[in-house]
Amino acid sequence: MVKIAPSILSADFARLGADVAAVEEAADWLHVDVMDGHFVPNITIGPPVVASLRRVTSLPLDCHLMISDPARYVDDFADAGADSLSVQIEAAPDPVPTLARIRERGLACGLVLNPATPFAAVEPYLEDLDLLLVMTVQPGFGGQSFRHDVLPKIEEAAGVLARRGLPVHLEVDGGIDTETAPLVVDAGADVLVAGSAVFGRSDPARAADAIRAAARTRVPLTT
Ligand code: DX5
Ligand code: ZN
Repeated sequence: MVKIAPSILSADFARLGADVAAVEEAADWLHVDVMDGHFVPNITIGPPVVASLRRVTSLPLDCHLMISDPARYVDDFADAGADSLSVQIEAAPDPVPTLARIRERGLACGLVLNPATPFAAVEPYLEDLDLLLVMTVQPGFGGQSFRHDVLPKIEEAAGVLARRGLPVHLEVDGGIDTETAPLVVDAGADVLVAGSAVFGRSDPARAADAIRAAARTRVPLTT
């Protein structure tokens, strides 16, 4: 059962409520990209926008913190009504207290891996996670091309989670569309974030449905 998480990074922030309403039925989660201009070279949104979204949607708010010192903001996002908080392992060398605080606040917690960061960086913390987010682009901007070189890491993560029987969602983020969805699902991902391939289209709900349908197709064996 694959989940689709449209990323509001590609929505129109001046009409965010309407854009979210457009995917309310087609989406499983709503992905919220938080950038601080420090961990990544781009600045987006923070807790006030999460609080506004909370009032207009019942979709789970899946917050991806691309920020330095994420521990400092856990309570602000929890107060705003986030459902899950994922922190970049590169920004949290000792993530255990941060993950514990996220769970203490009743939220799901996740760790995120940049394309260059090996799976081994998060392996010690798998027991402490509800989701593992594998970036398939360098974080910071929407609309980038999918990094095929990350597929082996998704397979590695899926294999370890399955062998250890851990109930951890394996989420992918970056360059996901109808072409790449079957590849990541085949590699073991079960939550697909998509920004430009949903909100960049004239009918975002139909675009999300198309990604879900594509995710069900099998990847042909190459010879
Ligand atoms: C990138 C963000 C992504 C972004 C994905 O830094 O974390 O969530 O919105 O956008 P697309 O789907 O356009 O690659
Ligand atoms: Zn994201």
